[in-house]
Amino acid sequence: MATTAVSSFGFVSCQRGAEFAVKQEIFASGFGLRLAFSQSGFVTFKIPTDFGEDRFLKHKWVFARTHGLSLGKVKGNQLHKLAARLWQLPAVVAQNEMGAFQDIHVWEPDAEIPGRNSFEPGISPLASTIEEALRQQGPVKLQQPQATTSRTSRLPTGRNQRVLDVVVVEPGQWWVSWHRAELPQQQWPGGIVPVKCPPQAVSRAYLKMEEALQWSAFPFQSGDEWVELGCSPGGSCQALLDHGQFVTGIDPAEVDPLLLERTNFRHLRKRTVEVRRSEFRDVDWLAADMNVVPGYALDTVEAIVAHRRVSIRGLILTLKFPDWKLAKELPEYLSRIHSWGYRDLRARQLAHNAREVCIVALRSRDLRRFRHS
Ligand SMILES: C[S@@+](CC[C@H](N)C(=O)[O-])C[C@H]1O[C@@H](n2cnc3c(N)ncnc32)[C@H](O)[C@@H]1O
Repeated sequence: MATTAVSSFGFVSCQRGAEFAVKQEIFASGFGLRLAFSQSGFVTFKIPTDFGEDRFLKHKWVFARTHGLSLGKVKGNQLHKLAARLWQLPAVVAQNEMGAFQDIHVWEPDAEIPGRNSFEPGISPLASTIEEALRQQGPVKLQQPQATTSRTSRLPTGRNQRVLDVVVVEPGQWWVSWHRAELPQQQWPGGIVPVKCPPQAVSRAYLKMEEALQWSAFPFQSGDEWVELGCSPGGSCQALLDHGQFVTGIDPAEVDPLLLERTNFRHLRKRTVEVRRSEFRDVDWLAADMNVVPGYALDTVEAIVAHRRVSIRGLILTLKFPDWKLAKELPEYLSRIHSWGYRDLRARQLAHNAREVCIVALRSRDLRRFRHS
Protein backbone atom coordinates (compact mmCIF):
# COMPACT_ATOMS: atom_id res chain seq x y z
CA MET A 1 0.00 0.00 0.00
CA ALA A 2 1.33 3.45 -0.89
CA THR A 3 2.14 5.67 2.04
CA THR A 4 1.62 9.43 1.87
CA ALA A 5 4.73 11.54 2.50
CA VAL A 6 4.36 13.65 5.62
CA SER A 7 5.52 17.24 5.26
CA SER A 8 4.74 18.81 8.61
CA PHE A 9 2.66 18.81 11.73
CA GLY A 10 -0.33 20.94 12.56
CA PHE A 11 -1.78 21.61 15.98
CA VAL A 12 -5.24 22.44 17.25
CA SER A 13 -5.87 23.99 20.64
CA CYS A 14 -9.33 23.18 21.95
CA GLN A 15 -11.47 22.90 25.04
CA ARG A 16 -10.43 20.24 27.52
CA GLY A 17 -12.56 17.21 26.66
CA ALA A 18 -13.33 18.37 23.12
CA GLU A 19 -10.45 16.40 21.57
CA PHE A 20 -12.92 13.78 20.35
CA ALA A 21 -14.93 16.46 18.54
CA VAL A 22 -11.73 17.92 17.03
CA LYS A 23 -10.62 14.53 15.72
CA GLN A 24 -14.12 13.78 14.43
CA GLU A 25 -14.14 17.10 12.58
CA ILE A 26 -10.66 16.58 11.15
CA PHE A 27 -11.44 13.06 9.94
CA ALA A 28 -14.78 14.15 8.48
CA SER A 29 -12.99 16.88 6.51
CA GLY A 30 -11.47 14.19 4.27
CA PHE A 31 -8.18 16.11 4.19
CA GLY A 32 -6.16 13.00 5.04
CA LEU A 33 -4.63 14.49 8.19
CA ARG A 34 -3.22 11.83 10.50
CA LEU A 35 -3.40 11.95 14.25
CA ALA A 36 -0.09 12.46 16.11
CA PHE A 37 0.47 13.57 19.73
CA SER A 38 -2.55 14.67 21.72
CA GLN A 39 -3.45 15.47 25.28
CA SER A 40 -6.27 17.35 27.00
CA GLY A 41 -6.95 20.53 25.05
CA PHE A 42 -4.18 20.01 22.50
CA VAL A 43 -4.19 17.80 19.41
CA THR A 44 -1.50 17.50 16.71
CA PHE A 45 -1.78 16.09 13.19
CA LYS A 46 0.57 15.02 10.45
CA ILE A 47 -0.15 16.99 7.33
CA PRO A 48 0.50 15.07 4.10
CA THR A 49 2.60 16.90 1.49
CA ASP A 50 -0.12 16.68 -1.12
CA PHE A 51 -2.57 18.39 1.21
CA GLY A 52 -0.76 21.70 1.65
CA GLU A 53 -0.13 23.50 4.92
CA ASP A 54 -2.00 26.52 3.70
CA ARG A 55 -5.26 24.62 3.42
CA PHE A 56 -4.88 23.42 6.99
CA LEU A 57 -4.15 26.96 8.17
CA LYS A 58 -6.99 28.58 6.26
CA HIS A 59 -9.69 26.08 7.18
CA LYS A 60 -12.22 27.32 9.74
CA TRP A 61 -12.26 24.49 12.25
CA VAL A 62 -15.30 24.66 14.54
CA PHE A 63 -13.68 23.00 17.54
CA ALA A 64 -10.29 24.70 17.25
CA ARG A 65 -9.85 27.72 19.44
CA THR A 66 -6.74 28.36 17.41
CA HIS A 67 -4.53 26.25 15.14
CA GLY A 68 -1.16 26.45 13.45
CA LEU A 69 1.93 24.67 12.14
CA SER A 70 4.52 23.05 14.34
CA LEU A 71 8.14 24.20 14.57
CA GLY A 72 9.35 21.72 17.19
CA LYS A 73 9.38 21.40 20.95
CA VAL A 74 11.68 22.04 23.87
CA LYS A 75 12.00 20.26 27.19
CA GLY A 76 13.81 21.20 30.37
CA ASN A 77 13.31 22.50 33.86
CA GLN A 78 14.90 25.94 33.84
CA LEU A 79 12.86 28.79 32.45
CA HIS A 80 15.61 30.90 30.89
CA LYS A 81 17.51 27.92 29.47
CA LEU A 82 14.30 26.65 27.95
CA ALA A 83 13.56 30.05 26.45
CA ALA A 84 17.08 30.16 24.97
CA ARG A 85 16.64 26.65 23.57
CA LEU A 86 13.39 27.66 21.93
CA TRP A 87 15.05 30.54 20.07
CA GLN A 88 17.72 28.09 18.89
CA LEU A 89 15.29 25.58 17.35
CA PRO A 90 16.37 25.32 13.69
CA ALA A 91 12.85 25.98 12.36
CA VAL A 92 12.50 29.01 14.65
CA VAL A 93 15.93 30.36 13.66
CA ALA A 94 15.07 29.97 9.97
CA GLN A 95 11.79 31.87 10.32
CA ASN A 96 13.31 34.43 12.63
CA GLU A 97 16.06 35.29 10.17
CA MET A 98 13.36 36.25 7.72
CA GLY A 99 11.88 38.50 10.40
CA ALA A 100 8.85 36.30 10.42
CA PHE A 101 7.41 36.72 13.89
CA GLN A 102 5.48 39.85 14.81
CA ASP A 103 4.01 38.65 18.09
CA ILE A 104 4.22 35.82 20.62
CA HIS A 105 1.31 33.86 22.08
CA VAL A 106 1.91 31.61 25.06
CA TRP A 107 -0.78 29.59 26.82
CA GLU A 108 -1.43 26.45 28.82
CA PRO A 109 -4.26 24.07 27.89
CA ASP A 110 -7.28 24.57 30.17
CA ALA A 111 -6.95 23.03 33.62
CA GLU A 112 -10.71 22.32 33.74
CA ILE A 113 -13.85 22.41 31.63
CA PRO A 114 -15.01 26.05 31.42
CA GLY A 115 -17.40 26.88 34.22
CA ARG A 116 -16.50 23.83 36.30
CA ASN A 117 -15.07 24.56 39.76
CA SER A 118 -15.16 28.29 38.88
CA PHE A 119 -12.56 27.77 36.16
CA GLU A 120 -12.62 30.18 33.22
CA PRO A 121 -10.24 29.99 30.26
CA GLY A 122 -7.48 32.56 30.19
CA ILE A 123 -3.76 33.13 30.28
CA SER A 124 -2.21 31.59 33.37
CA PRO A 125 0.49 33.33 35.44
CA LEU A 126 2.96 30.65 34.27
CA ALA A 127 2.19 31.40 30.61
CA SER A 128 2.70 35.13 31.25
CA THR A 129 6.06 34.47 32.92
CA ILE A 130 7.19 32.32 30.01
CA GLU A 131 6.09 34.95 27.51
CA GLU A 132 8.11 37.56 29.36
CA ALA A 133 11.23 35.34 29.36
CA LEU A 134 10.81 34.65 25.64
CA ARG A 135 10.41 38.33 24.79
CA GLN A 136 13.52 39.20 26.80
CA GLN A 137 15.62 36.72 24.85
CA GLY A 138 13.92 37.14 21.49
CA PRO A 139 14.55 39.53 18.61
CA VAL A 140 14.49 43.23 19.49
CA LYS A 141 11.10 43.96 17.98
CA LEU A 142 9.47 41.27 20.12
CA GLN A 143 11.10 42.64 23.26
CA GLN A 144 8.90 45.70 23.14
CA PRO A 145 5.76 44.95 25.05
CA GLN A 146 3.42 44.99 22.03
CA ALA A 147 1.06 44.25 24.76
CA THR A 148 1.59 43.80 28.41
CA THR A 149 1.53 40.18 29.44
CA SER A 150 -1.49 40.85 31.60
CA ARG A 151 -4.52 39.25 30.04
CA THR A 152 -6.91 42.12 30.63
CA SER A 153 -4.74 44.89 29.25
CA ARG A 154 -3.23 42.98 26.35
CA LEU A 155 -3.93 44.25 22.86
CA PRO A 156 -4.94 41.89 20.08
CA THR A 157 -2.25 40.87 17.61
CA GLY A 158 -2.54 42.88 14.41
CA ARG A 159 -4.61 41.36 11.60
CA ASN A 160 -2.57 38.95 9.42
CA GLN A 161 0.56 39.21 11.56
CA ARG A 162 2.66 36.07 11.98
CA VAL A 163 2.62 34.76 15.51
CA LEU A 164 5.02 32.45 17.33
CA ASP A 165 2.88 30.06 19.40
CA VAL A 166 4.13 28.37 22.52
CA VAL A 167 1.82 25.79 24.04
CA VAL A 168 2.93 24.92 27.55
CA VAL A 169 1.68 21.33 27.68
CA GLU A 170 3.66 20.92 30.90
CA PRO A 171 5.73 23.53 32.74
CA GLY A 172 8.92 21.94 31.32
CA GLN A 173 7.57 20.95 27.92
CA TRP A 174 6.70 23.57 25.32
CA TRP A 175 5.35 22.90 21.84
CA VAL A 176 6.38 25.59 19.42
CA SER A 177 4.35 26.53 16.35
CA TRP A 178 3.23 29.51 14.33
CA HIS A 179 0.05 30.84 12.73
CA ARG A 180 -1.15 33.89 10.89
CA ALA A 181 -3.71 36.01 12.77
CA GLU A 182 -6.41 36.06 10.11
CA LEU A 183 -9.52 35.27 12.14
CA PRO A 184 -10.50 37.38 15.16
CA GLN A 185 -9.82 34.54 17.60
CA GLN A 186 -6.33 34.05 16.11
CA GLN A 187 -5.41 37.51 17.38
CA TRP A 188 -5.47 36.24 20.97
CA PRO A 189 -3.22 33.71 22.76
CA GLY A 190 -4.80 30.28 22.66
CA GLY A 191 -7.73 31.67 20.65
CA ILE A 192 -9.27 32.94 23.89
CA VAL A 193 -11.02 36.21 23.18
CA PRO A 194 -10.80 38.04 26.53
CA VAL A 195 -14.19 39.14 27.81
CA LYS A 196 -15.11 41.03 30.93
CA CYS A 197 -17.70 39.69 33.31
CA PRO A 198 -19.08 42.23 35.81
CA PRO A 199 -19.43 41.01 39.41
CA GLN A 200 -23.22 41.38 39.20
CA ALA A 201 -23.49 38.96 36.23
CA VAL A 202 -26.24 36.52 37.15
CA SER A 203 -24.82 33.58 35.18
CA ARG A 204 -21.74 32.71 33.14
CA ALA A 205 -23.91 32.91 30.03
CA TYR A 206 -22.91 36.60 30.28
CA LEU A 207 -19.40 35.53 29.19
CA LYS A 208 -20.72 33.37 26.36
CA MET A 209 -22.83 36.20 24.97
CA GLU A 210 -20.00 38.72 25.27
CA GLU A 211 -17.61 36.39 23.53
CA ALA A 212 -20.12 35.64 20.75
CA LEU A 213 -20.71 39.37 20.16
CA GLN A 214 -16.99 40.17 20.12
CA TRP A 215 -15.80 37.20 18.12
CA SER A 216 -18.43 37.68 15.42
CA ALA A 217 -18.36 41.51 15.59
CA PHE A 218 -22.13 41.14 15.70
CA PRO A 219 -23.71 43.98 13.71
CA PHE A 220 -26.31 45.23 16.21
CA GLN A 221 -26.96 48.92 16.80
CA SER A 222 -27.83 50.63 20.04
CA GLY A 223 -31.58 50.27 20.78
CA ASP A 224 -32.13 47.10 18.73
CA GLU A 225 -34.77 44.54 19.75
CA TRP A 226 -33.73 41.05 20.84
CA VAL A 227 -35.48 37.94 21.96
CA GLU A 228 -33.75 35.14 23.82
CA LEU A 229 -35.21 31.63 23.99
CA GLY A 230 -34.05 29.98 27.20
CA CYS A 231 -33.11 33.12 29.11
CA SER A 232 -33.15 32.02 32.75
CA PRO A 233 -31.45 33.03 35.04
CA GLY A 234 -30.44 35.85 32.69
CA GLY A 235 -26.69 36.34 32.12
CA SER A 236 -26.87 36.63 28.35
CA CYS A 237 -29.84 39.03 28.45
CA GLN A 238 -27.88 41.08 30.97
CA ALA A 239 -24.93 41.32 28.55
CA LEU A 240 -27.27 42.51 25.79
CA LEU A 241 -28.89 45.06 28.12
CA ASP A 242 -25.43 46.36 29.01
CA HIS A 243 -24.99 47.06 25.29
CA GLY A 244 -28.12 49.23 25.26
CA GLN A 245 -30.40 46.60 23.70
CA PHE A 246 -34.12 45.95 24.32
CA VAL A 247 -34.57 42.33 25.32
CA THR A 248 -37.49 39.94 25.70
CA GLY A 249 -36.45 36.78 27.53
CA ILE A 250 -38.56 33.64 27.11
CA ASP A 251 -38.27 30.85 29.63
CA PRO A 252 -40.69 28.93 31.87
CA ALA A 253 -38.14 29.26 34.69
CA GLU A 254 -37.66 32.33 36.89
CA VAL A 255 -35.19 35.02 35.95
CA ASP A 256 -32.97 36.77 38.47
CA PRO A 257 -34.66 39.78 40.15
CA LEU A 258 -31.72 41.95 39.01
CA LEU A 259 -33.00 41.58 35.45
CA LEU A 260 -36.60 42.35 36.28
CA GLU A 261 -35.42 45.74 37.58
CA ARG A 262 -34.03 46.66 34.17
CA THR A 263 -36.43 48.86 32.20
CA ASN A 264 -35.40 47.49 28.77
CA PHE A 265 -36.13 43.90 29.78
CA ARG A 266 -39.30 41.86 29.95
CA HIS A 267 -39.77 38.22 30.78
CA LEU A 268 -42.35 35.98 29.11
CA ARG A 269 -42.54 33.12 31.54
CA LYS A 270 -43.51 30.45 29.03
CA ARG A 271 -42.07 27.76 26.82
CA THR A 272 -41.31 29.15 23.39
CA VAL A 273 -44.15 27.21 21.68
CA GLU A 274 -46.64 28.98 23.94
CA VAL A 275 -45.59 32.45 22.81
CA ARG A 276 -47.74 34.15 20.14
CA ARG A 277 -45.92 34.78 16.85
CA SER A 278 -46.93 38.45 17.01
CA GLU A 279 -44.42 38.84 19.87
CA PHE A 280 -41.62 38.35 17.33
CA ARG A 281 -42.85 40.85 14.75
CA ASP A 282 -40.55 43.78 15.59
CA VAL A 283 -37.59 41.72 16.72
CA ASP A 284 -34.23 42.40 15.00
CA TRP A 285 -32.13 39.59 16.46
CA LEU A 286 -32.76 36.24 18.14
CA ALA A 287 -30.58 34.35 20.61
CA ALA A 288 -31.30 30.82 21.80
CA ASP A 289 -29.65 28.98 24.68
CA MET A 290 -32.18 26.27 25.57
CA ASN A 291 -30.98 23.12 27.28
CA VAL A 292 -32.53 20.85 24.67
CA VAL A 293 -31.06 18.67 21.91
CA PRO A 294 -29.98 20.55 18.76
CA GLY A 295 -32.79 19.13 16.59
CA TYR A 296 -35.46 20.42 18.96
CA ALA A 297 -33.71 23.79 19.37
CA LEU A 298 -33.68 24.20 15.58
CA ASP A 299 -37.37 23.17 15.25
CA THR A 300 -38.24 25.85 17.80
CA VAL A 301 -36.20 28.58 16.09
CA GLU A 302 -37.49 27.61 12.63
CA ALA A 303 -41.10 27.90 13.76
CA ILE A 304 -40.34 31.56 14.57
CA VAL A 305 -38.02 32.74 11.80
CA ALA A 306 -39.95 30.99 9.03
CA HIS A 307 -43.14 32.86 9.93
CA ARG A 308 -44.12 35.29 7.17
CA ARG A 309 -44.60 38.27 9.51
CA VAL A 310 -41.27 37.83 11.25
CA SER A 311 -38.10 39.34 9.79
CA ILE A 312 -35.27 38.54 12.17
CA ARG A 313 -31.96 39.59 10.61
CA GLY A 314 -29.57 37.47 12.61
CA LEU A 315 -29.25 34.69 15.16
CA ILE A 316 -26.89 33.68 17.93
CA LEU A 317 -27.65 30.05 18.66
CA THR A 318 -26.04 27.90 21.31
CA LEU A 319 -26.43 24.25 20.37
CA LYS A 320 -25.78 21.78 23.17
CA PHE A 321 -24.27 18.35 22.66
CA PRO A 322 -25.23 15.93 25.42
CA ASP A 323 -23.07 13.53 23.39
CA TRP A 324 -20.04 14.72 21.36
CA LYS A 325 -21.10 12.38 18.56
CA LEU A 326 -23.93 14.81 17.79
CA ALA A 327 -21.30 17.33 16.70
CA LYS A 328 -20.98 15.26 13.53
CA GLU A 329 -24.40 16.56 12.50
CA LEU A 330 -23.18 20.16 12.53
CA PRO A 331 -22.95 20.52 8.72
CA GLU A 332 -26.58 19.39 8.52
CA TYR A 333 -27.65 21.86 11.20
CA LEU A 334 -25.90 24.63 9.29
CA SER A 335 -27.50 23.75 5.99
CA ARG A 336 -30.87 23.75 7.73
CA ILE A 337 -30.26 27.28 9.04
CA HIS A 338 -29.06 28.30 5.56
CA SER A 339 -32.36 27.04 4.11
CA TRP A 340 -34.25 29.54 6.31
CA GLY A 341 -32.54 32.36 4.40
CA TYR A 342 -29.49 32.97 6.60
CA ARG A 343 -26.69 33.08 4.05
CA ASP A 344 -23.78 34.10 6.27
CA LEU A 345 -23.02 31.35 8.77
CA ARG A 346 -20.22 30.93 11.26
CA ALA A 347 -19.90 28.16 13.84
CA ARG A 348 -17.39 27.84 16.60
CA GLN A 349 -16.96 26.39 20.04
CA LEU A 350 -16.28 29.55 21.98
CA ALA A 351 -13.69 29.49 24.74
CA HIS A 352 -16.47 30.12 27.27
CA ASN A 353 -18.87 27.53 25.82
CA ALA A 354 -19.36 24.30 27.71
CA ARG A 355 -20.20 21.17 25.67
CA GLU A 356 -21.87 23.29 23.03
CA VAL A 357 -21.15 25.44 20.00
CA CYS A 358 -22.13 28.93 19.02
CA ILE A 359 -23.65 29.58 15.60
CA VAL A 360 -23.88 33.13 14.32
CA ALA A 361 -26.20 33.43 11.33
CA LEU A 362 -26.93 36.61 9.38
CA ARG A 363 -29.36 37.11 6.52
CA SER A 364 -26.48 38.32 4.38
CA ARG A 365 -22.76 38.93 4.68
CA ASP A 366 -23.36 42.60 3.90
CA LEU A 367 -24.80 42.96 7.40
CA ARG A 368 -21.30 42.44 8.80
CA ARG A 369 -20.45 45.95 7.66
CA PHE A 370 -22.84 47.44 10.20
CA ARG A 371 -20.81 46.84 13.30
CA HIS A 372 -22.05 48.50 16.43
CA SER A 373 -19.87 51.36 17.53
C1 LIG B 1 -28.57 27.04 29.89
S1 LIG B 1 -30.04 27.67 30.53
C2 LIG B 1 -30.06 29.26 29.84
C3 LIG B 1 -29.08 30.21 30.45
C4 LIG B 1 -29.42 31.64 30.08
N1 LIG B 1 -29.27 31.90 28.68
C5 LIG B 1 -28.68 32.66 30.89
O1 LIG B 1 -28.25 33.64 30.27
O2 LIG B 1 -28.56 32.55 32.10
C6 LIG B 1 -31.25 26.82 29.60
C7 LIG B 1 -32.67 27.30 29.80
O3 LIG B 1 -33.45 26.85 28.72
C8 LIG B 1 -34.79 26.81 29.18
N2 LIG B 1 -35.63 26.11 28.21
C9 LIG B 1 -35.62 24.78 27.89
N3 LIG B 1 -36.55 24.53 26.95
C10 LIG B 1 -37.16 25.71 26.67
C11 LIG B 1 -38.20 26.10 25.77
N4 LIG B 1 -38.80 25.22 24.99
N5 LIG B 1 -38.56 27.40 25.73
C12 LIG B 1 -37.93 28.31 26.54
N6 LIG B 1 -36.96 27.98 27.42
C13 LIG B 1 -36.58 26.70 27.48
C14 LIG B 1 -34.64 26.16 30.56
O4 LIG B 1 -35.76 26.45 31.38
C15 LIG B 1 -33.34 26.79 31.07
O5 LIG B 1 -33.61 27.87 31.93
